[in-house]
Order: sequence, then C-alpha cells, then structure tokens
Amino acid sequence: MLKKVMSEKLNNQINHEAFSAYLYYSMSAYFESINLKGFANWMTMQAQEEIAHTHRLFTYINDKGDRVLLRALEEPQRDWDSPLACIEDAYNHECFISECINECVTLALQENDHATNAMLQWFVSEQVEEEANADDLVQKLKLIGDNSSGLYMLDAELGKRTFDPAAEAGQ
Ligand code: FEO
Repeated sequence: MLKKVMSEKLNNQINHEAFSAYLYYSMSAYFESINLKGFANWMTMQAQEEIAHTHRLFTYINDKGDRVLLRALEEPQRDWDSPLACIEDAYNHECFISECINECVTLALQENDHATNAMLQWFVSEQVEEEANADDLVQKLKLIGDNSSGLYMLDAELGKRTFDPAAEAGQ
C-alpha cells in the first residue's frame, strides 16, 4: 500500500496528466481551426503521450494495491492569439508539470518511499524531453516570424510526428 499522503499526491498527478491531454487536444482543435494540420497532428500525438503518462500512474497505484480516485478536469483554453502564443503556453505548461513531478519526488524521498521514487524517475527524464521539444518549437516559430512559407514548411514537418505506445510504456 501507499501512504495516504503519497496516494493523494499521485492521484493529483493523474489529474495533471489527464488535464495535459485535454489541453493538448484543445490546442490541436485550435490548430485545425486555423488550417495548420501538421501542428494539429503534433498536438494530438502530444495528447496521446499524456494519456500514456496518465496510464503509467494509474497502473502504478493499482499495482501498489491502492485506489485510483479520478477528479473533475478543468475546462481547457480554446483559442490563442497566434501559433506562437499557443506553443509558448504548451512550453509553460510543461515547466509546470516538471515542478509537479519534482514535488512528487520530494514527497517520495521524505516518506522513504523508494518504489515510488524509482517509478517517478522515468517522469523526471521524460520532462526534460517534454520541455526541450516544446522549447524547440517556440524557437523555430520565433525564427520564422511572419514568414508564411517558413510556417508552411514547419507545419509539413510536424505533420510527420507519430506516437509509439511501446516506447511510452518503456518496452
Ligand atoms: Fe506528462 Fe507532458 O507531461
């Protein structure tokens, strides 16, 4: 079993990860609405990764013989002023998630919960990649500025992103 305080923290992190999926689906819908289908694809793949993150925590809590308790999801933002504003929000959201994961790790260490700490180390590494990927897009969009052919080329590149469930599951 997990200690109550740890169980609550991990259940809360499930909510953060599930909300992340919801937010990225909302960003995908925004990009569809402005006909940037490659960006929309990138966000849909990102949302699927977040569902995989949610599932990792869900499985861990179950494996520890504890009870998953799902909470309501907040309504995500629907519109942004520009592609750059949207991707900057995605980057800032990932920084927030990294802080949440760090808080989970700090609690696991305080509670001498080595199993949970070991499980969370995957998330610590994943967050480095999550922040880097979003920041890379922010920097590219800043370089492109209002050059529409640059935006078109980036959209084509982002349309190629796929989701590998096996890699997310650590297989
Ligand atoms: Fe699951 Fe993008 O953090």
